[in-house]
Amino acid sequence: MTEKNRRAAALLHHRAEALKRGEPVAPPIVQSSVFHLPGEPEAAYQYGRFGHPNWDAVEAQLAIMEDAPCVAFPSGMAAIASVLYASLKSGDRIIVPSDGYYTTGALAQEFLSPMGVTTILHPTLALEQSSFDGVALVLLETPSNPGLDVCDIAAIAAKVKAAGARLVVDNTMMTAFGQRPLDLGANIVVSAATKAPGGHSDALLGHVASRDDALITRIRDWRRLAGAIPGAMDAWLVHRGLETLDVRLERMCATAGVIAARLQDHSATVSVRYPGLNTDPSYALAKNQMDNFGFIIGLTLKDKTVAEGFLSNCPLIAQTTSFGSVHSSGERRARWGDAVPDGFVRLSIGCEPVDELWAAIDKALQVM
Ligand SMILES: Cc1ncc(COP(=O)(O)O)c(C=O)c1O
Repeated sequence: MTEKNRRAAALLHHRAEALKRGEPVAPPIVQSSVFHLPGEPEAAYQYGRFGHPNWDAVEAQLAIMEDAPCVAFPSGMAAIASVLYASLKSGDRIIVPSDGYYTTGALAQEFLSPMGVTTILHPTLALEQSSFDGVALVLLETPSNPGLDVCDIAAIAAKVKAAGARLVVDNTMMTAFGQRPLDLGANIVVSAATKAPGGHSDALLGHVASRDDALITRIRDWRRLAGAIPGAMDAWLVHRGLETLDVRLERMCATAGVIAARLQDHSATVSVRYPGLNTDPSYALAKNQMDNFGFIIGLTLKDKTVAEGFLSNCPLIAQTTSFGSVHSSGERRARWGDAVPDGFVRLSIGCEPVDELWAAIDKALQVM
């Protein structure tokens, strides 16, 4: 029995203990903004911005996965924003990735800098050598999105701690079933359940996880006061998605390994990044630090025309700007200004049977 399997099983039965005879096994969707509250306001639920049964259900699952208290938010960015706004003050300096999900840096630079917080951008691979003196918070993302560079969380966590700063890991690319930043010394995990945890391209959600009780209380207070709250339906959808995350990831990661190897041998390919390829620069560290190699492949084709042609010719790749769904998807990241070649496609491998998916990819590449 592995620790991950223990968590995966517990997640499926987390409601069992509290269930009374005749109550529904699946959590009901509580589509109510108010709760019956006569007299003194002492009740489990008082008002829909303070607390909600569907948040509690999804947070209970996330807490099992993370082995830490969790706070749910309406998106991954709302979760990241809560950490920045609830933990920083004027005069602080923070480090965020220059090659990670660009919105985090944009949020910090556009909205935190006028409040006196200085944002420093560092490439993922340079973090281990960086100095954290005088820094309040370091946020990293590994593997980086979309370049798939991997950095050593434990080594960086030790340096960040020695400098008296906090380490935040954006674990969206891996989820707690693929990588355990809190066990490696990170203070906080942020993650977008919009991606693999929800997994069906039908809901947005995010969460913050931390074993620092005071910080979790402050994050909860921030959510209540700022009003960045998840909707009942989205929380319910992600609750249902999380029940199959373990089994979906198994399929997605195994298929990604096969597709990455076949793409590496394909004549249309300029280069492939996938941490599970033993020729990949991320391989050694990924093997040590990650529980699987993920489901994202970085495929570089000749140029923009070839990449766009490939995407529009492949019926089993949805052309979307997200990842982690049951539907394989892909996009040219240069269209958003990421520092990648024009022909770079971020492929997110879904749950299609591997041979069908490969046949569709191979056929779409032949046309080029
Ligand atoms: C690594 C990473 N973190 C955070 C987010 C933000 O998630 P959301 O879109 O739910 O706000 C994304 C979205 O693409 C992401 O890729």
